[in-house]
Amino acid sequence: MTYEQAIARTLFSTSEIAAAISRLAGEIARDFPGQPLTVLGVLKGALYVTVDLVRALSRVPDGPSTVELDFLVVSSYGNSTRSSGEVRLLKDVGENIAGKNVLVVEDIVDNGLTLQYLRSLLSGRAPKTLRSCVLFDKPYNRRVDVPIDYVGLVAPDAFVVGYGLDYGESFRNLPYLAQLRPWVFSE
Ligand code: IMP
Repeated sequence: MTYEQAIARTLFSTSEIAAAISRLAGEIARDFPGQPLTVLGVLKGALYVTVDLVRALSRVPDGPSTVELDFLVVSSYGNSTRSSGEVRLLKDVGENIAGKNVLVVEDIVDNGLTLQYLRSLLSGRAPKTLRSCVLFDKPYNRRVDVPIDYVGLVAPDAFVVGYGLDYGESFRNLPYLAQLRPWVFSE
């Protein structure tokens, strides 16, 4: 199977995603002018958006005074297209976030359990502020009402891949967001 055979359609192109990330960077920069910001990317899915977002932040005038970057690793899906509902922290952040302006960056929010878990984990560490930024929102199947401060694009109610999002660890490196053909899931 090649990626080309597996993809049914492009949902958001590389340039649409880039435009959404620059808009997000503008919104975030406006909220933290001249203040330090600690950006926490949630791996593996948010690798691409986090890297592109912190670069975009550096291009916005009058934004944060400094940007610190760290990552945590969580797992909630295993190799399926349905969330297990159980979020596991595989790697924590390296630095103390007490008293800091913290921005959690997620690739996609579906049922909301992963973001809720992260918000509760991090808010227990007394950050000065805690905000969340999500590149793709799937607001159709929420199991918890979790606040999202910055939303990039609203994705359709489907399992999507690309731009960091995987199916069975493949497709993360597609530079756009795509929907797979149904037969891929029965392979
Ligand atoms: P939630 O806990 O259901 O909100 O899902 C959050 C995590 O599930 C995301 O960080 C992704 O890693 C994964 N996920 C949710 N929807 C999709 C999808 O459509 N494609 C790939 N991964 C997804």
